[in-house]
Amino acid sequence: MTVGFDYSKSFIKKHEVDFMKPFLKEAHNLLHDGDGPGNEFIGWLDWTEKYDRQEYEKIKTVAAGIRQKADVFIVVGIGGSYLGARAAFEALTHTFHNLLPREERQAPQIYFAGNNMSPKYMTDLMETLEDKEVYVNVISKSGTTTEPAIAFRILKSHLEDKYGKEEARNRIFATTDGSKGALKTLATNEGYETFVIPDDIGGRYSVLTPVGLLPLSVAGIDIDQLMEGAHEAAIQYGNPNLDENRCYQYAVTRQILHKRGKDIEILVNYEPGLQYLGEWWKQLYGESEGKDGKGVFPASVNFTADLHSMGQLIQDGKRNIFETSIVIENAERDLEISHDEENLDGLNYLQGKTIGHVNRKAFEGTLLAHLEGNVPNLIISLPLLDEFNFGKLIYFFEKACAISGYLQGVNPFDQPGVEAYKKNMFKLLGKEGY
Ligand code: PA5
Repeated sequence: MTVGFDYSKSFIKKHEVDFMKPFLKEAHNLLHDGDGPGNEFIGWLDWTEKYDRQEYEKIKTVAAGIRQKADVFIVVGIGGSYLGARAAFEALTHTFHNLLPREERQAPQIYFAGNNMSPKYMTDLMETLEDKEVYVNVISKSGTTTEPAIAFRILKSHLEDKYGKEEARNRIFATTDGSKGALKTLATNEGYETFVIPDDIGGRYSVLTPVGLLPLSVAGIDIDQLMEGAHEAAIQYGNPNLDENRCYQYAVTRQILHKRGKDIEILVNYEPGLQYLGEWWKQLYGESEGKDGKGVFPASVNFTADLHSMGQLIQDGKRNIFETSIVIENAERDLEISHDEENLDGLNYLQGKTIGHVNRKAFEGTLLAHLEGNVPNLIISLPLLDEFNFGKLIYFFEKACAISGYLQGVNPFDQPGVEAYKKNMFKLLGKEGY
């Protein structure tokens, strides 16, 4: 049960990887000795070992209670306080979770809010809450982010109008800083159950903290397995030997490709449930590497759907791209293609084959075509799309991202650039002090 990594389809030669060994060693030491830029935010590195067991048990108990009582659970957050939970939720639950009958779901419907400023989204969401038992988890490390703060204000007032202030209190859970910020103050004053986002873990590295664990546990995802997978990854990818460490091989090979002028990395999936993994990964790599005039532009596509749109550009457009393909080796559930007497669609040659088999051949065919089109491919494989392997994959990407940032010579843990638009927006909105 392991995450596989294969760079044999990337046009990179072994000696090029070997050449990176001293640089990799330095990046590894910087990270593990805690001497690198941004070292105050490396709490995620050994988090799977050191996380607060008491709080973890509280998460499971609270989640079990919500699972029983709630019809709808709304997860309010944006960026690093949202994308990890969304990615794992979409990947690990039934594709149509919210549409399943309650008995089958064994969990509330899960909705996400506070990740946009759309009046349509919010009004539509509020309309769906009529006659439903609603519970809310508001997540913000700073406690001051505008999008979740506005969504939460609306939801809080909805809950208080519907259930009264006392009962609303029992239905609101806040995940935020342990001591400071507007949300912390609000939660303390209102008496909400709170969960702590550790000081030394930044938003985009926080999915394995209460930020992701509470919503995922409410959704019925086995967070023990998720943490176990991540823990195994932490041990495995702690190995400084590049020849044995696939996570480091990914970090190194993407840097080699970048140096060759490949400025865009496209994360490819063949599972619709992995679409949000792509969104999470884009934030992780975009915010971590995109600074000081540097950075690979992270993009994502969902195949086979996007083969019918982006496929043209990837095959035949400007050669400044490389792909990182995620392949799931074994489908947990599959469907066989049946025989049809008339065969008007001409598909009888596939009778007895599964959709998973066709999907695999689509991957193999696409890989060959894109290699012919001179698109280097890095391949990450997962034996199964389950909690354990997803936990491993999360850690794989986080660790590779940190190493990749150090190889590139940037601080992979800050995001000074995201403040610029906020200043302008606040000024335009007339906020005091701007
Ligand atoms: O990575 C980041 O820092 C951002 O994406 C934040 O996670 C995002 O802005 C949400 O911030 P907060 O959790 O403080 O509301």
